[in-house]
Amino acid sequence: MLTEKTLEKIQQIQKNYHSKKSAVMGALMAVQRDSGNNLTREDMEAVAEILEVNPVEVQAVAGFYTMYNWKKPVGRHHIEICWNLSCSLMGAEHLISHMEKKLGITLGETTADGMFTLSTAECLGSCGTAPMMQVGDDYYENLTVEKVDKILADLRASS
Ligand code: FES
Repeated sequence: MLTEKTLEKIQQIQKNYHSKKSAVMGALMAVQRDSGNNLTREDMEAVAEILEVNPVEVQAVAGFYTMYNWKKPVGRHHIEICWNLSCSLMGAEHLISHMEKKLGITLGETTADGMFTLSTAECLGSCGTAPMMQVGDDYYENLTVEKVDKILADLRASS
């Protein structure tokens, strides 16, 4: 069941488009953000009903883009570290190993407390500030082990 706040966000998103169908991606992201970082099948059905779109089409969108989390739930902070060319050349794999040790998980896993999920991402369009990662809506760039430790500590403290 979507909250009033989420429904208002979806109404706002719809205003940006000529057709309701065009608002599917934004609506799904609004629901995901308001639902603890994950989407359920019921969420997708609700979006389909609101936007008058076939539920299969909404599920197809959610299934195509990796930014929607419904096949496998993620933690409160979804860390997506870029491991494409520029970031790899600048040490992404070292940072991945460091975070795996620090968090006690391997890629694709979520910490036991549900706080962090560690994933890789393909190029996030910030090659000039490699290595970098995305956590939610935020980019963290020019990463070092020390920066990563501070980011993880700050995220933990903010939760
Ligand atoms: S290769 Fe990492 S942002 Fe482009």
